[in-house]
Amino acid sequence: MPVEFTPPRVAVVIDKNTFTRELIAASGVFAICLPGSALIDLTYAVGSESGRALDKFEHFGIDTLVTPLLGLPVPASGCSAWLECRLIPERHTEDAYDTCFAEVVGAAADARIFRDGHWLFESGNADLQTIHHLGGGNFICAGSVVRAASL
Ligand SMILES: Cc1cc2nc3c(=O)[nH]c(=O)nc-3n(C[C@H](O)[C@H](O)[C@H](O)COP(=O)(O)O)c2cc1C
Repeated sequence: MPVEFTPPRVAVVIDKNTFTRELIAASGVFAICLPGSALIDLTYAVGSESGRALDKFEHFGIDTLVTPLLGLPVPASGCSAWLECRLIPERHTEDAYDTCFAEVVGAAADARIFRDGHWLFESGNADLQTIHHLGGGNFICAGSVVRAASL
């Protein structure tokens, strides 16, 4: 979730027992990727394995591109956006709540779904629309935007 806009900072919960957490602690950097609905199966599969046991990119045949600033591998297709993040060390929240804070130093989005600072959820870009895990491999796909009427 976003915690600040200027500078752009996020908070993300990453279990301390994961390989991801170990890599972040060692490198101080990570990427956050927003898979679109076309990647639901891959997202669930990748999230159900550990990088300690297998190379997820290789095992699931994930083509990657390297992010420009921090040189991080992200899926080359199927994500609506990705963020390059530099960890802001906050030992207490990391240990107590598995919550990591980071500054976003770079970001990119697919112009088919995010343009001029706005999300565009249209019938033609359903495969890129964001997914939200309900648990157990069940996801909600973000669909039509409803604008609040001024009462
Ligand atoms: C859809 C999905 C979402 C997940 N989200 C999180 C999360 O936000 N934080 C977390 O610590 N684990 C999350 N998990 C669990 C990790 O993906 C799981 O512990 C995984 O084995 C970690 O891999 P690693 O050891 O390579 O880091 C999620 C799993 C799935 C399937």
